[in-house]
Amino acid sequence: MGIKALGYVVVETTQPERWDHFLTQLAGVMRAPDAADGAMQFRIDQRPFRFRIWQGAKDHFTAAGYEVADAAALDALAGAVAAAGRPVEQGSADQAALRGVSAFFTTSDPAGNGLEFYHGDSIAAQPFVSPLGIDRFITGDMGMGHAVFSVPNFDECVSFYRDVVGFRETDMPRFYFGGGGAEDPGMGFAFMHADNGRHHSIALGEGPVPPSGAVHIMLELPDLVEVGKAHDRMKALGYPESATLGQHFNDETVGFYVQTPGGFDLEIGCDSLVIDPASWEVTKHIGISIWGHEWAWQKAMKEAQAAE
Ligand SMILES: [Fe+2]
Repeated sequence: MGIKALGYVVVETTQPERWDHFLTQLAGVMRAPDAADGAMQFRIDQRPFRFRIWQGAKDHFTAAGYEVADAAALDALAGAVAAAGRPVEQGSADQAALRGVSAFFTTSDPAGNGLEFYHGDSIAAQPFVSPLGIDRFITGDMGMGHAVFSVPNFDECVSFYRDVVGFRETDMPRFYFGGGGAEDPGMGFAFMHADNGRHHSIALGEGPVPPSGAVHIMLELPDLVEVGKAHDRMKALGYPESATLGQHFNDETVGFYVQTPGGFDLEIGCDSLVIDPASWEVTKHIGISIWGHEWAWQKAMKEAQAAE
């Protein structure tokens, strides 16, 4: 039993036109025809959609959708999730058809972050063509990218994702943003992989669940030229930069973070480490970034100090 990959994300929005602009004009994602229920759909490869964005009463990350191997694996997972005390809601045949999957269920982690699990994927009839001429996104067996949630009940959530859902630990560090002295207990982080080569398909940070419902999602571009061009578009279009260009220690991704119209961030990167999930030994990195990644809150603190 295990998880194949991150298949798609579902986002609720009060401002669909802003999401359309953000994804097509900044990220180079392709708008697909709307779903039968009116939700917007966006593609980064042959899958019918990777973003399902529906108009609702709030701006909120609804769910990260992960794929499992088959119907038996989905049933077993639903049973395990229910036994762990999480609410399981089976998707109807109509809802499954809207997602382009054979069957799915919705649930949430012990912090309340939204999740869907499905089996039986499909491919679109039309080829993927980026509106900005991006050749391709890095997907395939490694899935859409990764999702990151914030969880106050860190240990409980790590054990849910590992022992109940079936993700595996990749990097399990503790970061000390307050200098690491006696006053600084540090923050737990968990980077976990699915049954594929992507370093992490889900990550958890220890902290309150943000109002947006997620910390960030990540899309991988083929090279640094495409990341640089996306960074230029962020600046030109005036989208808020959440972290400057930089490179992570653990998955080696070079990229930046931009705030989406949903309030959570999108990490756009390249050159991510590909692991062998069968032989990986868990690491415990002591820092987040080799270089760069100045966060908006760090910049604001520096500016406030300079103004004193
Ligand atoms: Fe990330």
